[in-house]
Amino acid sequence: MDDLSINFAGIKAPNPFWLASAPPTNSGYQVMKAFDQGWGGAVWKTLGVPVINVSSRYGGLNYRDTRMMGFNNIELITDRPLKDNLKEIEEVKKYFPDHAVIASLMVESREEWHQIVRDVENAGADGLELNFGCPHGMCERGMGSAVGQEPEVLKTIVSWVKEVAKTPVIVKLTPNITDITEPGLAAVEGGGDAISLINTIQSLVGVDIDNFVSYPNVGGESTNGGYCGPAVKPIALNMLKNCAQHSGINIPISGIGGIENWKDAVEHILLGASSVQVCTAVMHYGFGIIREMTSGLERYMDNKGFNTINDMVGKALPNIKTWENLNLNHKVTANINADKCIECQLCYTACEDGAHQAIGLQKDVSRVPYVIEENCVGCNLCSLVCPVEGCITMERKDDGKEVVTWSDKTIKGTAPETFNDERAGGIGHYVPEPKDALNKNR
Ligand SMILES: Cc1cc2nc3c(=O)[nH]c(=O)nc-3n(C[C@H](O)[C@H](O)[C@H](O)COP(=O)(O)O)c2cc1C
Repeated sequence: MDDLSINFAGIKAPNPFWLASAPPTNSGYQVMKAFDQGWGGAVWKTLGVPVINVSSRYGGLNYRDTRMMGFNNIELITDRPLKDNLKEIEEVKKYFPDHAVIASLMVESREEWHQIVRDVENAGADGLELNFGCPHGMCERGMGSAVGQEPEVLKTIVSWVKEVAKTPVIVKLTPNITDITEPGLAAVEGGGDAISLINTIQSLVGVDIDNFVSYPNVGGESTNGGYCGPAVKPIALNMLKNCAQHSGINIPISGIGGIENWKDAVEHILLGASSVQVCTAVMHYGFGIIREMTSGLERYMDNKGFNTINDMVGKALPNIKTWENLNLNHKVTANINADKCIECQLCYTACEDGAHQAIGLQKDVSRVPYVIEENCVGCNLCSLVCPVEGCITMERKDDGKEVVTWSDKTIKGTAPETFNDERAGGIGHYVPEPKDALNKNR
């Protein structure tokens, strides 16, 4: 049996799966239900001076058959009284002493920070998460992402919190910034014990083209919100990698953004996260997704021979280089498996119009396309558009001996001077059909 337990900057949890601060952690009822189903920790919906939230407040981006591939919200922090939340935190800790309960906080003045830290710690919170990420509503009042975008201000507030905090302090960063490592470093300098990222990305998820109102619609008006869900995972992974590879950011990282299943979580862990947080996927599918997440993670750890989560943290980082250090001599070309091909010819169209004219169609023989090796630059596009898994594979063609990088000053241009005549048209040889011929074909 693998050991999924973690000690994240001093916060212990039975597994690395935490609920992110959001509607699923709005109340003690929800957090206890989630723990019962297997979640290892919960970051409470952000506490502060309670707000009045608007209705409606969410918008979704559907892509073809996938609903809520991206999710947008204009919700602020908790609208529930602080004393109710404190009572429920205490209750959760009574029933679940071994699970991690982290209080997410957002207030303004030094005195308010001191007071709320004491309040949640007295209630039994195991740690604090400072919300410097919310990119709508609170930032207009100088809080949330307005702090996350000003490293010096962030550092000052972290140091205020550290003046009184007895539990570990996690600093939650905003992705609405050019270089995420700047606030990451400020968190370290302020004395933060860990960072978490990402909060939501400032966004407008769409416009109702009949009524001329962007979503979500609040009585015929709207405002920009925060974007999350599966669509943001690539952005989150890149920012996570940037922080994890930075030598000055030497504190634990909690990975957040687009995590929906065990594989997403493993990707975050391999890029340096030692706990992961989930919001949108739970809002979409419920707490029950934790069962697949834990069993999938255990299976993966067994297969790879990892005994603890720590064994996996950051395993993919050494293989991420700057572009100039990639091997320019590495060469792959596409290979089409005729037995798997369903003859849709999407690879032909994509390569012909959108890439390098390296796929040809056989005349009168078969509808299975073929690869014109001399033109194939190994870009991958054909295998990405192919709807059949494993039908188009990329095969290595270089001898693997010579490594040439851009940083080696000696490299010369490698573009081929001539192209295969079999290719339809060819760069500089495209002859348009006469206009009346086109019209006749219509
Ligand atoms: C409706 C909604 C409310 C949220 N409220 C908070 C909040 O109060 N505090 C906070 O730090 N993050 C809040 N978030 C951000 C999430 O904690 C998380 O950082 C973000 O959604 C990315 O994770 P995901 O892709 O798993 O959703 C909220 C997100 C959503 C969708």
